[in-house]
Amino acid sequence: MKDNRFIPVNEPVLGGNEKKYLAECVDTGWISSEGPFVKKFETQFAAKVNRGCGIAVSSGTAALETAVTALGMGSGDEVIMPAFTIISCAAAVVRAGAKPVLVDSDPATWNMDVTQIEAKITSATKAIMVVHIYGLPVDMDPVLQLAKKHNLKVIEDSAEAHGLNYNDKPCGSFGDVSIFSFYPNKLITTGEGGMIVTDSEDIAERCRSLRNLCFQSERRFVHEQLGFNYRMTNLQAALGVAQLEQIDKFAKRKRRMGKLYTKLLSDIDSIQLPVEKTDYAENIYWVYGVVLKDKVSFDAKEAMNRLAQRKIGTRPFFWPMHRQPVFKRMGLFDGESYPAAEKMADRGFYIPSGLALTDEPIECVAQSLRAILK
Ligand SMILES: Cc1ncc(COP(=O)(O)O)c(C=O)c1O
Repeated sequence: MKDNRFIPVNEPVLGGNEKKYLAECVDTGWISSEGPFVKKFETQFAAKVNRGCGIAVSSGTAALETAVTALGMGSGDEVIMPAFTIISCAAAVVRAGAKPVLVDSDPATWNMDVTQIEAKITSATKAIMVVHIYGLPVDMDPVLQLAKKHNLKVIEDSAEAHGLNYNDKPCGSFGDVSIFSFYPNKLITTGEGGMIVTDSEDIAERCRSLRNLCFQSERRFVHEQLGFNYRMTNLQAALGVAQLEQIDKFAKRKRRMGKLYTKLLSDIDSIQLPVEKTDYAENIYWVYGVVLKDKVSFDAKEAMNRLAQRKIGTRPFFWPMHRQPVFKRMGLFDGESYPAAEKMADRGFYIPSGLALTDEPIECVAQSLRAILK
């Protein structure tokens, strides 16, 4: 790079109608969740992923909590999920009083190894929570077959999977209930925000009620159930509508960026790069992850330190659920081990992958990565 600026791990692009729609909220005074952009965003987003209903909420985490609660998960129920994911997934299940049951990852795709699911099914299993990780989808067909065979619900965490297809269908179209996040590192952002999508009007109605404190229409302040205040504001939804107009362009940009990184890095034999294609999907490179192979004498933490010294932002990979101190203290996952997830956590990290990134800093990141591995 010509100058010597820090290259952040993510920077969003807000170059469309964002300002115009936000000004509309301010000019009309509609800033709460009652404003018209919320419905518009829900309808347009749900249509984009081929679903009948969209319920906008305040974050992806809120979407998971609402979805798990709406499906009635509770004490004595088990939900199968990957060990390698964000805490939001397991936290939603634990908070509902149910038990997360973990499976390891496929070390090539970094997604849950679906061949390990069936062995974890017991009479208490109520759902499988799939999580599409870093730009490639989970292999959904075997999951859907298992769910049908054992009469289980599927909760699809598509927080990172906007614009991504499994075969020819969009991620977010597979779960009994599916969720997205709109945090600024996502393909489209609302600052903070999330969306639940489903084809079941019944589940949708429960989610709408749960996000709004379970107020009742007749006797507003009399509650039959405990809900949450997880409403999305009109300001956030205004951003969402403007961002959704640009989603296809953003998806193209991410793929181009990912392919460029792969071209620049593929001759380095000491790192594992993201899989470009599987039988069922083409990577969208939501983030560009790398895993240090065993021949590298240092771990991800050291690699990230070395890159920070060269003014390059990075993020570690997820820390697996069975290693989380908070869950250990609860007595969860005692003595369990998931070697693929552990290796990814110890040796994986991702490099700058935001939509604002141009080719020049990508080349600079690739050069630096090469240099620190020498
Ligand atoms: C797979 C996954 N699920 C859920 C979430 C939670 O979303 P949020 O940050 O909007 O709460 C994230 C966030 O990055 C995520 O990556």
